[in-house]
Amino acid sequence: MNRLIERDQLIEEWLYEAAKISKKSFEQTISVEEKTTRTDLVTNIDKKIEQFFIEKISTYFPGERVLGEESSKYPFTDLKGTVWIIDPIDGTLNFVKQKSDFAIMIGIYENGIGYLGYVYDVMRDELYSAAKNQGAYLNGEQLERVEDIPLREGLVAISHRLMTNENSDEARRIGRASSGVRMIGSAGLETTRVATGKLVAYIGASLAPWDIAAGKIIAEELGLIYTQLNGEIIDMLCHNKTVVATPSAHKEIIKNFK
Ligand code: IPD
Ligand code: CA
Ligand code: CA
Ligand code: CA
Repeated sequence: MNRLIERDQLIEEWLYEAAKISKKSFEQTISVEEKTTRTDLVTNIDKKIEQFFIEKISTYFPGERVLGEESSKYPFTDLKGTVWIIDPIDGTLNFVKQKSDFAIMIGIYENGIGYLGYVYDVMRDELYSAAKNQGAYLNGEQLERVEDIPLREGLVAISHRLMTNENSDEARRIGRASSGVRMIGSAGLETTRVATGKLVAYIGASLAPWDIAAGKIIAEELGLIYTQLNGEIIDMLCHNKTVVATPSAHKEIIKNFK
């Protein structure tokens, strides 16, 4: 069997197993810890899922590196070789408070270039995936390239942090220039909503590589543009202010942040 297909099948199996761990946890008491602030949480389930992937990867793909939100040293120094960038639960606050709107995400990069991306919306059972130059899929069905809708004709997701902490006039201006603002609280899911044309753009305040890695591969396969908010390319070794959008909306948004 083709090595890429084999790898893809394994990853999908692992994602479904990891999703079971997350859903099973709703029957138990989970332990929640604060990391840097009272809204920056980690649970024993985030850690368990990340550990699950680390064990699988070291068994099936020894020698490939894993950069995971809950276990890796950050910032990273390089992305040489094959690197798995993992967010075991994207939207931990939603996971804890809503038991929905969270995702399990894996992006695989070869010397810094993304070639496989997965965002699994666990509670909707929607698996978004993409392979570089081979299109993007939702539960195995190929997704169509996204229509190039301008900002004023679409809904835009803007990170909570940008709208509150940073008190950004630019973000508010973009909100006003769009059809309306929506907030979900999972960078991965917000990116997949842009990928399916439900949103015209998603603006992230300060996203880490694991928030970006998988969704960026999916978005780019569909003709979307994913960059820093000032238009520069994403630096996968550190945090970035980000925008993923249709080409027209992207142009209009970055103009405001230059
Ligand atoms: C967070 C979510 C959130 C975004 C934060 C991320 P986490 O990821 O994606 O929507 O605004 O910047 O850190 O911590 O739940 O994996
Ligand atoms: Ca986190
Ligand atoms: Ca995340
Ligand atoms: Ca996370």
